[in-house]
Amino acid sequence: MTHVPPTTNNAGAPVASDAHSLAVGADGPIVLHDHYLVEKLAQFNRERVPERVVHAKGGGAFGTFTVTHDVSAYTRAALFQPGTTTDMLARFSSVAGEHGSPDTWRDPRGFALKFYTSEGNYDLVGNNTPVFFLRDGIKFPDFIRSQKRLPGSNLRDNDMQWDFWSLSPESAHQVTWLMGDRGLPRSWRTMDGFGSHTYQWVNAAGERFWVKYHFQTQQGIDNLTADEAAQLAGSDADHHIRDLHEHIADGQFPRWTLRVQVMPYEDAKSYRFNPFDLTKVWPHADYPLIEVGVMELNRNPENYFAQIEQATFAPSSFVPGIGPSPDKMLLARIFSYADAHRYRVGTNHAQLPVNAPQAPVHSYSKDGAARYDFAPADRPVYAPNSLGGPAADPARAGESGGWESDGEMVRAAATPHPEDDDWGQAGTLYREVFDDAARARFLETITGHVGGVKSDVIRARAVQYWTNVDAGLGAALAAALAAAGAPVEAGEPGTASVPVA
Ligand code: HEM
Repeated sequence: MTHVPPTTNNAGAPVASDAHSLAVGADGPIVLHDHYLVEKLAQFNRERVPERVVHAKGGGAFGTFTVTHDVSAYTRAALFQPGTTTDMLARFSSVAGEHGSPDTWRDPRGFALKFYTSEGNYDLVGNNTPVFFLRDGIKFPDFIRSQKRLPGSNLRDNDMQWDFWSLSPESAHQVTWLMGDRGLPRSWRTMDGFGSHTYQWVNAAGERFWVKYHFQTQQGIDNLTADEAAQLAGSDADHHIRDLHEHIADGQFPRWTLRVQVMPYEDAKSYRFNPFDLTKVWPHADYPLIEVGVMELNRNPENYFAQIEQATFAPSSFVPGIGPSPDKMLLARIFSYADAHRYRVGTNHAQLPVNAPQAPVHSYSKDGAARYDFAPADRPVYAPNSLGGPAADPARAGESGGWESDGEMVRAAATPHPEDDDWGQAGTLYREVFDDAARARFLETITGHVGGVKSDVIRARAVQYWTNVDAGLGAALAAALAAAGAPVEAGEPGTASVPVA
Protein backbone atom coordinates (compact mmCIF):
# COMPACT_ATOMS: atom_id res chain seq x y z
CA MET A 1 0.00 0.00 0.00
CA THR A 2 1.32 3.45 -0.87
CA HIS A 3 2.18 5.68 2.02
CA VAL A 4 -0.41 8.44 2.51
CA PRO A 5 1.13 11.56 4.05
CA PRO A 6 -0.64 13.10 7.02
CA THR A 7 -2.78 16.16 6.24
CA THR A 8 -1.35 19.28 7.83
CA ASN A 9 -2.49 22.85 8.19
CA ASN A 10 -0.70 25.56 6.22
CA ALA A 11 1.95 25.76 8.92
CA GLY A 12 2.76 22.06 8.56
CA ALA A 13 1.17 20.76 11.76
CA PRO A 14 -0.87 17.53 11.48
CA VAL A 15 -4.65 17.89 11.67
CA ALA A 16 -7.22 15.50 13.13
CA SER A 17 -10.16 15.79 10.75
CA ASP A 18 -11.25 17.12 7.38
CA ALA A 19 -14.79 15.96 8.06
CA HIS A 20 -15.78 17.32 11.48
CA SER A 21 -15.52 20.82 12.89
CA LEU A 22 -14.64 21.16 16.56
CA ALA A 23 -17.93 21.50 18.44
CA VAL A 24 -19.11 21.64 22.09
CA GLY A 25 -20.60 18.17 22.19
CA ALA A 26 -21.62 16.29 19.04
CA ASP A 27 -24.71 18.51 18.63
CA GLY A 28 -23.23 21.68 20.05
CA PRO A 29 -22.01 24.96 18.52
CA ILE A 30 -18.73 25.21 16.66
CA VAL A 31 -15.95 26.89 18.61
CA LEU A 32 -14.04 29.85 17.23
CA HIS A 33 -10.73 28.36 18.21
CA ASP A 34 -11.11 25.60 15.61
CA HIS A 35 -8.31 27.42 13.82
CA TYR A 36 -8.07 24.70 11.16
CA LEU A 37 -11.70 25.25 10.15
CA VAL A 38 -11.09 29.00 10.19
CA GLU A 39 -7.97 28.60 8.06
CA LYS A 40 -9.83 26.42 5.53
CA LEU A 41 -12.74 28.84 5.14
CA ALA A 42 -10.56 31.95 5.09
CA GLN A 43 -8.17 30.47 2.54
CA PHE A 44 -11.11 29.42 0.37
CA ASN A 45 -12.48 32.97 0.40
CA ARG A 46 -9.17 34.15 -1.00
CA GLU A 47 -8.65 31.52 -3.72
CA ARG A 48 -9.32 33.89 -6.59
CA VAL A 49 -7.37 36.87 -7.79
CA PRO A 50 -9.32 39.40 -9.87
CA GLU A 51 -9.79 38.10 -13.39
CA ARG A 52 -8.01 40.00 -16.15
CA VAL A 53 -10.11 43.08 -17.01
CA VAL A 54 -9.89 41.88 -20.63
CA HIS A 55 -8.75 38.49 -21.98
CA ALA A 56 -10.08 36.83 -18.82
CA LYS A 57 -10.81 33.46 -20.44
CA GLY A 58 -7.74 31.65 -21.69
CA GLY A 59 -5.32 28.79 -21.50
CA GLY A 60 -1.72 28.15 -22.33
CA ALA A 61 1.31 25.94 -22.43
CA PHE A 62 5.08 25.99 -22.22
CA GLY A 63 7.47 25.33 -25.07
CA THR A 64 10.53 26.53 -26.91
CA PHE A 65 11.47 29.01 -29.58
CA THR A 66 14.29 27.91 -31.88
CA VAL A 67 16.05 30.19 -34.34
CA THR A 68 16.37 28.61 -37.79
CA HIS A 69 17.45 31.62 -39.87
CA ASP A 70 20.03 34.31 -39.25
CA VAL A 71 18.42 37.69 -38.53
CA SER A 72 21.37 39.08 -36.58
CA ALA A 73 21.73 41.77 -39.25
CA TYR A 74 18.53 43.26 -37.82
CA THR A 75 18.64 42.58 -34.09
CA ARG A 76 21.17 41.80 -31.42
CA ALA A 77 18.44 40.26 -29.19
CA ALA A 78 19.88 37.09 -27.63
CA LEU A 79 16.78 35.01 -28.36
CA PHE A 80 17.02 35.71 -32.11
CA GLN A 81 20.70 34.82 -32.55
CA PRO A 82 21.52 31.82 -34.78
CA GLY A 83 21.39 28.47 -33.03
CA THR A 84 19.55 29.75 -29.97
CA THR A 85 16.68 27.89 -28.32
CA THR A 86 14.73 29.75 -25.65
CA ASP A 87 12.17 28.43 -23.17
CA MET A 88 8.82 30.14 -23.44
CA LEU A 89 5.21 30.30 -22.30
CA ALA A 90 2.17 31.06 -24.47
CA ARG A 91 -1.28 32.10 -23.27
CA PHE A 92 -4.21 32.26 -25.68
CA SER A 93 -7.45 33.97 -24.79
CA SER A 94 -10.64 35.62 -25.93
CA VAL A 95 -11.13 39.30 -25.15
CA ALA A 96 -14.53 40.40 -23.98
CA GLY A 97 -15.96 37.37 -22.18
CA GLU A 98 -15.49 36.64 -18.51
CA HIS A 99 -13.52 33.80 -17.00
CA GLY A 100 -16.20 31.17 -17.63
CA SER A 101 -17.35 32.39 -21.03
CA PRO A 102 -17.34 30.08 -24.08
CA ASP A 103 -14.08 29.84 -25.99
CA THR A 104 -15.87 29.96 -29.34
CA TRP A 105 -17.61 33.33 -29.17
CA ARG A 106 -16.64 35.58 -32.08
CA ASP A 107 -13.84 37.73 -30.68
CA PRO A 108 -10.17 38.33 -31.39
CA ARG A 109 -7.96 35.71 -29.75
CA GLY A 110 -5.06 36.81 -27.56
CA PHE A 111 -1.64 35.45 -28.46
CA ALA A 112 0.62 36.33 -25.52
CA LEU A 113 4.17 35.01 -25.43
CA LYS A 114 6.82 35.12 -22.73
CA PHE A 115 10.38 34.23 -23.74
CA TYR A 116 12.72 33.44 -20.84
CA THR A 117 15.82 34.78 -22.63
CA SER A 118 19.41 34.86 -21.37
CA GLU A 119 19.11 38.66 -21.11
CA GLY A 120 15.80 38.80 -19.26
CA ASN A 121 12.17 38.10 -20.12
CA TYR A 122 10.80 39.28 -23.44
CA ASP A 123 6.99 39.42 -23.65
CA LEU A 124 5.20 39.78 -26.96
CA VAL A 125 1.53 40.36 -26.20
CA GLY A 126 -0.30 40.12 -29.50
CA ASN A 127 -3.51 38.82 -31.01
CA ASN A 128 -4.51 36.52 -33.86
CA THR A 129 -5.10 39.67 -35.92
CA PRO A 130 -2.45 41.91 -37.49
CA VAL A 131 -4.45 45.07 -36.69
CA PHE A 132 -6.61 46.48 -33.92
CA PHE A 133 -9.81 48.53 -33.51
CA LEU A 134 -8.09 51.71 -32.34
CA ARG A 135 -5.02 53.82 -32.84
CA ASP A 136 -4.89 55.72 -29.54
CA GLY A 137 -4.91 54.03 -26.13
CA ILE A 138 -7.03 56.79 -24.59
CA LYS A 139 -10.04 55.15 -26.31
CA PHE A 140 -9.36 51.63 -25.02
CA PRO A 141 -11.45 51.69 -21.80
CA ASP A 142 -14.44 53.13 -23.70
CA PHE A 143 -14.06 50.56 -26.46
CA ILE A 144 -13.93 47.66 -24.01
CA ARG A 145 -16.95 48.92 -22.06
CA SER A 146 -18.93 49.04 -25.30
CA GLN A 147 -18.10 45.36 -25.90
CA LYS A 148 -18.81 44.16 -22.37
CA ARG A 149 -22.10 44.50 -20.48
CA LEU A 150 -24.79 47.10 -19.87
CA PRO A 151 -24.68 48.48 -16.34
CA GLY A 152 -28.34 47.76 -15.58
CA SER A 153 -29.23 44.45 -17.20
CA ASN A 154 -25.65 43.09 -17.28
CA LEU A 155 -26.35 41.99 -20.85
CA ARG A 156 -24.08 42.46 -23.84
CA ASP A 157 -25.61 44.83 -26.30
CA ASN A 158 -25.37 45.22 -30.07
CA ASP A 159 -26.39 48.88 -29.83
CA MET A 160 -23.37 49.72 -27.66
CA GLN A 161 -21.02 47.79 -29.92
CA TRP A 162 -22.19 49.35 -33.17
CA ASP A 163 -22.59 52.81 -31.65
CA PHE A 164 -18.91 52.76 -30.69
CA TRP A 165 -17.67 51.11 -33.88
CA SER A 166 -19.68 53.33 -36.22
CA LEU A 167 -18.41 56.43 -34.41
CA SER A 168 -14.83 55.10 -34.57
CA PRO A 169 -14.09 54.57 -38.26
CA GLU A 170 -10.53 53.48 -37.51
CA SER A 171 -12.10 50.21 -36.27
CA ALA A 172 -13.26 49.19 -39.80
CA HIS A 173 -10.25 47.07 -40.75
CA GLN A 174 -10.29 45.03 -37.53
CA VAL A 175 -14.09 44.67 -37.54
CA THR A 176 -13.89 43.36 -41.12
CA TRP A 177 -11.32 40.82 -39.98
CA LEU A 178 -13.39 39.91 -36.92
CA MET A 179 -16.66 39.40 -38.81
CA GLY A 180 -14.85 37.31 -41.44
CA ASP A 181 -14.02 33.62 -41.23
CA ARG A 182 -10.92 34.19 -39.08
CA GLY A 183 -13.12 35.64 -36.34
CA LEU A 184 -13.94 32.05 -35.34
CA PRO A 185 -10.76 29.95 -35.23
CA ARG A 186 -11.38 26.21 -34.89
CA SER A 187 -8.69 26.04 -32.24
CA TRP A 188 -5.81 28.09 -30.92
CA ARG A 189 -3.51 25.69 -32.79
CA THR A 190 -5.07 26.57 -36.15
CA MET A 191 -4.68 30.32 -36.09
CA ASP A 192 -1.79 32.67 -36.76
CA GLY A 193 -0.46 35.08 -34.17
CA PHE A 194 0.78 38.61 -34.70
CA GLY A 195 2.76 41.10 -32.67
CA SER A 196 0.34 43.51 -34.40
CA HIS A 197 2.22 46.68 -33.45
CA THR A 198 5.36 47.85 -35.17
CA TYR A 199 8.36 47.32 -32.91
CA GLN A 200 11.96 48.37 -33.22
CA TRP A 201 14.91 46.03 -33.65
CA VAL A 202 18.50 47.17 -33.05
CA ASN A 203 21.50 45.21 -34.32
CA ALA A 204 24.95 44.86 -32.75
CA ALA A 205 26.18 47.88 -34.69
CA GLY A 206 23.36 50.02 -33.29
CA GLU A 207 21.42 50.18 -36.58
CA ARG A 208 17.65 50.42 -36.15
CA PHE A 209 14.82 48.74 -38.06
CA TRP A 210 11.04 48.67 -37.74
CA VAL A 211 9.61 45.19 -37.48
CA LYS A 212 6.28 43.34 -37.49
CA TYR A 213 5.96 39.76 -36.17
CA HIS A 214 3.91 37.00 -37.85
CA PHE A 215 3.62 33.59 -36.16
CA GLN A 216 2.23 31.36 -38.91
CA THR A 217 0.57 28.15 -37.81
CA GLN A 218 2.12 24.93 -39.12
CA GLN A 219 -1.20 23.18 -38.39
CA GLY A 220 -2.86 25.17 -41.19
CA ILE A 221 -5.52 27.84 -40.73
CA ASP A 222 -8.84 26.26 -39.82
CA ASN A 223 -11.99 28.05 -38.70
CA LEU A 224 -15.37 27.11 -37.29
CA THR A 225 -18.57 27.94 -39.09
CA ALA A 226 -20.88 30.25 -37.16
CA ASP A 227 -23.20 27.29 -36.49
CA GLU A 228 -20.39 25.10 -35.19
CA ALA A 229 -19.15 27.90 -32.94
CA ALA A 230 -22.62 28.49 -31.53
CA GLN A 231 -23.16 24.79 -30.93
CA LEU A 232 -19.77 24.40 -29.20
CA ALA A 233 -20.44 27.45 -27.04
CA GLY A 234 -23.22 25.41 -25.46
CA SER A 235 -21.81 21.90 -25.56
CA ASP A 236 -18.16 22.56 -24.71
CA ALA A 237 -17.45 26.07 -23.46
CA ASP A 238 -13.80 25.10 -22.94
CA HIS A 239 -13.30 23.79 -26.46
CA HIS A 240 -10.04 25.68 -27.12
CA ILE A 241 -8.50 24.87 -23.73
CA ARG A 242 -9.38 21.19 -24.19
CA ASP A 243 -8.02 21.06 -27.74
CA LEU A 244 -4.65 22.52 -26.78
CA HIS A 245 -4.32 20.42 -23.64
CA GLU A 246 -5.23 17.15 -25.34
CA HIS A 247 -2.95 17.64 -28.32
CA ILE A 248 0.02 18.41 -26.11
CA ALA A 249 -0.81 15.51 -23.77
CA ASP A 250 -0.91 13.22 -26.86
CA GLY A 251 2.50 14.43 -28.03
CA GLN A 252 1.05 16.37 -30.98
CA PHE A 253 2.95 19.56 -30.30
CA PRO A 254 1.63 22.62 -32.16
CA ARG A 255 4.19 24.72 -34.00
CA TRP A 256 4.28 28.15 -35.53
CA THR A 257 6.89 29.60 -37.90
CA LEU A 258 7.96 33.10 -36.97
CA ARG A 259 8.43 35.40 -39.92
CA VAL A 260 9.00 39.15 -39.70
CA GLN A 261 8.57 42.14 -41.93
CA VAL A 262 11.51 44.50 -41.62
CA MET A 263 11.36 48.15 -42.64
CA PRO A 264 14.57 50.20 -42.82
CA TYR A 265 14.46 52.96 -40.19
CA GLU A 266 14.44 55.79 -42.73
CA ASP A 267 11.52 54.37 -44.76
CA ALA A 268 9.03 55.14 -42.00
CA LYS A 269 8.64 58.83 -42.72
CA SER A 270 7.82 58.41 -46.38
CA TYR A 271 5.97 55.07 -46.41
CA ARG A 272 2.56 55.22 -48.10
CA PHE A 273 0.83 54.23 -44.83
CA ASN A 274 1.71 55.47 -41.36
CA PRO A 275 3.80 52.45 -40.31
CA PHE A 276 2.95 53.03 -36.63
CA ASP A 277 -0.81 52.96 -37.15
CA LEU A 278 -2.12 49.76 -35.55
CA THR A 279 -5.15 49.75 -37.86
CA LYS A 280 -2.92 49.14 -40.91
CA VAL A 281 -0.93 46.22 -42.27
CA TRP A 282 2.19 46.56 -44.39
CA PRO A 283 1.40 44.77 -47.65
CA HIS A 284 3.86 41.89 -48.11
CA ALA A 285 4.70 43.22 -51.56
CA ASP A 286 6.22 46.26 -49.82
CA TYR A 287 7.98 44.36 -47.03
CA PRO A 288 8.22 40.59 -47.61
CA LEU A 289 8.26 38.03 -44.84
CA ILE A 290 11.66 36.98 -43.53
CA GLU A 291 11.89 33.65 -41.72
CA VAL A 292 13.28 33.60 -38.17
CA GLY A 293 12.45 30.38 -36.34
CA VAL A 294 9.94 27.97 -34.88
CA MET A 295 7.85 28.10 -31.75
CA GLU A 296 6.72 24.74 -30.38
CA LEU A 297 4.38 24.20 -27.43
CA ASN A 298 5.20 20.90 -25.78
CA ARG A 299 4.39 21.04 -22.06
CA ASN A 300 1.03 21.53 -20.41
CA PRO A 301 0.88 23.55 -17.22
CA GLU A 302 0.85 21.42 -14.07
CA ASN A 303 -1.28 23.95 -12.26
CA TYR A 304 -3.61 26.25 -14.17
CA PHE A 305 -3.87 28.88 -11.45
CA ALA A 306 -0.18 29.10 -10.57
CA GLN A 307 1.12 28.99 -14.13
CA ILE A 308 -1.59 30.50 -16.35
CA GLU A 309 -3.89 32.62 -14.20
CA GLN A 310 -0.95 34.20 -12.39
CA ALA A 311 1.15 34.56 -15.55
CA THR A 312 1.78 38.22 -16.27
CA PHE A 313 2.60 39.35 -19.81
CA ALA A 314 3.63 42.96 -20.36
CA PRO A 315 4.41 44.84 -23.58
CA SER A 316 6.94 46.74 -21.44
CA SER A 317 9.09 43.61 -21.02
CA PHE A 318 11.75 44.29 -23.63
CA VAL A 319 15.27 42.92 -23.89
CA PRO A 320 18.37 44.50 -25.47
CA GLY A 321 17.94 44.63 -29.24
CA ILE A 322 14.15 45.17 -29.13
CA GLY A 323 12.19 48.28 -28.26
CA PRO A 324 8.91 50.10 -28.84
CA SER A 325 7.88 52.28 -31.77
CA PRO A 326 5.98 55.58 -31.74
CA ASP A 327 2.65 53.66 -32.04
CA LYS A 328 0.46 55.50 -29.50
CA MET A 329 -1.44 52.30 -28.68
CA LEU A 330 1.76 50.49 -27.82
CA LEU A 331 3.00 53.38 -25.70
CA ALA A 332 -0.25 53.32 -23.68
CA ARG A 333 0.03 49.55 -23.24
CA ILE A 334 3.52 49.95 -21.87
CA PHE A 335 2.01 51.59 -18.79
CA SER A 336 -1.18 49.55 -18.61
CA TYR A 337 -0.06 45.94 -18.22
CA ALA A 338 2.56 46.25 -15.49
CA ASP A 339 0.02 48.37 -13.59
CA ALA A 340 -2.63 45.65 -14.06
CA HIS A 341 -0.20 43.05 -12.74
CA ARG A 342 0.63 44.99 -9.59
CA TYR A 343 -3.11 45.21 -8.90
CA ARG A 344 -4.19 41.76 -10.08
CA VAL A 345 -1.37 39.54 -8.86
CA GLY A 346 0.65 41.82 -6.59
CA THR A 347 3.68 44.02 -6.61
CA ASN A 348 6.04 41.04 -6.52
CA HIS A 349 4.32 39.11 -9.35
CA ALA A 350 7.64 38.86 -11.20
CA GLN A 351 8.99 36.60 -8.46
CA LEU A 352 6.45 33.84 -9.05
CA PRO A 353 8.13 30.89 -10.80
CA VAL A 354 6.07 31.31 -13.99
CA ASN A 355 7.04 34.96 -14.29
CA ALA A 356 10.58 34.84 -12.94
CA PRO A 357 13.31 35.31 -15.53
CA GLN A 358 15.94 32.65 -16.11
CA ALA A 359 18.49 35.48 -16.26
CA PRO A 360 19.84 36.70 -12.89
CA VAL A 361 17.99 39.66 -11.35
CA HIS A 362 20.08 42.43 -9.75
CA SER A 363 17.44 45.08 -9.26
CA TYR A 364 17.23 47.60 -6.44
CA SER A 365 13.51 46.96 -5.90
CA LYS A 366 12.81 45.64 -2.44
CA ASP A 367 10.11 44.54 -0.01
CA GLY A 368 6.37 44.67 -0.83
CA ALA A 369 3.67 42.06 -0.16
CA ALA A 370 4.71 38.42 -0.64
CA ARG A 371 8.38 39.24 -1.30
CA TYR A 372 10.10 35.89 -1.80
CA ASP A 373 13.50 36.57 -3.33
CA PHE A 374 15.86 39.09 -1.80
CA ALA A 375 19.38 40.37 -2.20
CA PRO A 376 22.15 39.42 0.25
CA ALA A 377 22.16 41.53 3.41
CA ASP A 378 25.51 43.12 2.56
CA ARG A 379 24.28 44.48 -0.77
CA PRO A 380 23.52 48.21 -0.65
CA VAL A 381 19.86 49.18 -1.10
CA TYR A 382 20.54 52.42 -2.95
CA ALA A 383 22.35 53.59 -6.08
CA PRO A 384 24.81 55.09 -6.67
CA ASN A 385 26.91 53.49 -3.94
CA SER A 386 30.57 52.92 -3.28
CA LEU A 387 30.02 49.42 -1.89
CA GLY A 388 30.10 47.36 -5.09
CA GLY A 389 26.33 47.17 -5.65
CA PRO A 390 24.95 46.56 -9.15
CA ALA A 391 25.66 49.46 -11.52
CA ALA A 392 23.66 50.51 -14.56
CA ASP A 393 25.71 50.61 -17.77
CA PRO A 394 25.28 53.80 -19.84
CA ALA A 395 26.84 52.00 -22.81
CA ARG A 396 23.64 49.98 -23.12
CA ALA A 397 21.43 53.04 -23.61
CA GLY A 398 20.94 52.51 -27.35
CA GLU A 399 20.29 48.79 -27.24
CA SER A 400 16.55 49.09 -26.91
CA GLY A 401 16.29 51.68 -29.64
CA GLY A 402 14.62 55.05 -29.82
CA TRP A 403 13.67 57.71 -32.31
CA GLU A 404 13.88 61.46 -32.76
CA SER A 405 10.89 63.46 -31.57
CA ASP A 406 10.12 67.12 -31.14
CA GLY A 407 7.19 69.51 -31.34
CA GLU A 408 4.48 71.26 -29.37
CA MET A 409 2.51 69.10 -26.95
CA VAL A 410 -0.80 68.48 -28.67
CA ARG A 411 -3.72 66.08 -28.63
CA ALA A 412 -3.96 65.31 -32.31
CA ALA A 413 -4.05 62.58 -34.93
CA ALA A 414 -0.64 61.51 -36.24
CA THR A 415 0.69 63.27 -39.33
CA PRO A 416 -1.08 61.60 -42.27
CA HIS A 417 0.76 59.51 -44.87
CA PRO A 418 -0.40 59.55 -48.52
CA GLU A 419 -2.62 56.45 -48.44
CA ASP A 420 -3.88 56.67 -44.85
CA ASP A 421 -7.62 56.38 -44.55
CA ASP A 422 -9.91 54.29 -42.40
CA TRP A 423 -11.70 52.35 -45.09
CA GLY A 424 -9.11 51.44 -47.73
CA GLN A 425 -7.42 48.40 -46.20
CA ALA A 426 -10.77 47.11 -44.89
CA GLY A 427 -12.15 47.32 -48.43
CA THR A 428 -9.09 45.52 -49.82
CA LEU A 429 -9.56 42.72 -47.28
CA TYR A 430 -13.22 42.38 -48.25
CA ARG A 431 -12.74 42.60 -52.02
CA GLU A 432 -9.33 40.99 -52.62
CA VAL A 433 -8.66 38.56 -49.75
CA PHE A 434 -12.14 37.12 -49.17
CA ASP A 435 -13.52 34.93 -51.96
CA ASP A 436 -17.19 34.92 -53.03
CA ALA A 437 -18.21 32.36 -50.42
CA ALA A 438 -16.35 34.22 -47.66
CA ARG A 439 -18.02 37.48 -48.72
CA ALA A 440 -21.44 35.79 -48.55
CA ARG A 441 -20.73 34.49 -45.03
CA PHE A 442 -19.43 37.92 -44.06
CA LEU A 443 -22.66 39.59 -45.21
CA GLU A 444 -24.68 37.05 -43.26
CA THR A 445 -22.62 37.71 -40.12
CA ILE A 446 -22.86 41.48 -40.22
CA THR A 447 -26.55 41.29 -41.11
CA GLY A 448 -27.10 39.27 -37.95
CA HIS A 449 -25.05 41.65 -35.83
CA VAL A 450 -26.38 44.93 -37.19
CA GLY A 451 -29.87 43.41 -37.31
CA GLY A 452 -29.64 43.06 -33.53
CA VAL A 453 -29.26 46.82 -33.12
CA LYS A 454 -32.50 48.35 -31.81
CA SER A 455 -31.73 51.99 -32.56
CA ASP A 456 -32.64 53.07 -36.11
CA VAL A 457 -29.96 55.78 -35.94
CA ILE A 458 -27.17 53.40 -34.99
CA ARG A 459 -28.31 50.81 -37.54
CA ALA A 460 -28.23 53.45 -40.25
CA ARG A 461 -24.78 54.57 -39.16
CA ALA A 462 -23.59 50.95 -39.29
CA VAL A 463 -24.86 50.65 -42.87
CA GLN A 464 -23.01 53.85 -43.75
CA TYR A 465 -19.88 52.41 -42.13
CA TRP A 466 -20.00 49.34 -44.39
CA THR A 467 -20.87 51.50 -47.37
CA ASN A 468 -17.66 53.41 -46.72
CA VAL A 469 -15.77 50.09 -46.72
CA ASP A 470 -17.44 48.99 -49.96
CA ALA A 471 -20.44 50.59 -51.62
CA GLY A 472 -21.76 47.24 -52.88
CA LEU A 473 -21.45 45.74 -49.42
CA GLY A 474 -23.39 48.63 -47.89
CA ALA A 475 -26.20 48.24 -50.42
CA ALA A 476 -26.30 44.47 -49.90
CA LEU A 477 -26.43 44.97 -46.12
CA ALA A 478 -29.28 47.48 -46.40
CA ALA A 479 -31.22 45.02 -48.58
CA ALA A 480 -30.52 42.10 -46.24
CA LEU A 481 -31.61 44.14 -43.21
CA ALA A 482 -34.83 45.12 -44.94
CA ALA A 483 -35.50 41.47 -45.79
CA ALA A 484 -34.81 40.54 -42.16
CA GLY A 485 -37.33 43.09 -40.90
CA ALA A 486 -34.77 45.64 -39.66
CA PRO A 487 -34.82 48.21 -42.48
CA VAL A 488 -32.69 51.33 -42.56
CA GLU A 489 -34.15 54.64 -43.69
CA ALA A 490 -31.91 56.60 -46.07
CA GLY A 491 -30.92 59.94 -44.53
CA GLU A 492 -31.49 58.64 -41.00
CA PRO A 493 -30.19 61.26 -38.54
CA GLY A 494 -26.55 60.57 -37.77
CA THR A 495 -25.82 58.86 -41.08
CA ALA A 496 -24.11 61.85 -42.59
CA SER A 497 -22.13 62.66 -39.49
CA VAL A 498 -19.86 59.66 -39.74
CA PRO A 499 -16.31 60.94 -39.58
CA VAL A 500 -14.49 59.74 -42.66
CA ALA A 501 -10.80 60.12 -41.83
C1 HEM B 1 -4.66 41.83 -21.65
C2 HEM B 1 -4.91 46.65 -21.62
C3 HEM B 1 -4.57 46.73 -26.44
C4 HEM B 1 -3.60 42.00 -26.39
C5 HEM B 1 -4.79 43.12 -21.23
C6 HEM B 1 -4.92 43.54 -19.87
C7 HEM B 1 -4.98 44.88 -19.86
C8 HEM B 1 -4.90 45.34 -21.22
C9 HEM B 1 -5.09 45.79 -18.63
C10 HEM B 1 -4.99 42.61 -18.66
C11 HEM B 1 -3.59 42.30 -18.20
C12 HEM B 1 -3.55 41.41 -16.99
O1 HEM B 1 -4.39 41.56 -16.10
O2 HEM B 1 -2.65 40.55 -16.92
C13 HEM B 1 -4.82 47.09 -22.92
C14 HEM B 1 -4.79 48.48 -23.33
C15 HEM B 1 -4.71 48.49 -24.69
C16 HEM B 1 -4.68 47.12 -25.13
C17 HEM B 1 -4.82 49.66 -22.38
C18 HEM B 1 -4.65 49.68 -25.63
C19 HEM B 1 -4.01 50.78 -25.36
C20 HEM B 1 -4.22 45.47 -26.85
C21 HEM B 1 -3.77 45.11 -28.17
C22 HEM B 1 -3.49 43.79 -28.14
C23 HEM B 1 -3.78 43.30 -26.80
C24 HEM B 1 -3.61 46.10 -29.31
C25 HEM B 1 -2.97 42.91 -29.23
C26 HEM B 1 -2.32 43.34 -30.28
C27 HEM B 1 -3.82 41.57 -25.10
C28 HEM B 1 -3.65 40.19 -24.71
C29 HEM B 1 -3.96 40.14 -23.34
C30 HEM B 1 -4.30 41.48 -22.93
C31 HEM B 1 -3.23 39.02 -25.58
C32 HEM B 1 -3.94 38.91 -22.45
C33 HEM B 1 -2.54 38.67 -21.94
C34 HEM B 1 -2.51 37.40 -21.13
O3 HEM B 1 -2.72 36.34 -21.74
O4 HEM B 1 -2.28 37.49 -19.93
N1 HEM B 1 -4.81 44.24 -22.05
N2 HEM B 1 -4.76 46.30 -24.03
N3 HEM B 1 -4.22 44.34 -26.05
N4 HEM B 1 -4.21 42.32 -24.02
FE1 HEM B 1 -4.49 44.27 -24.03
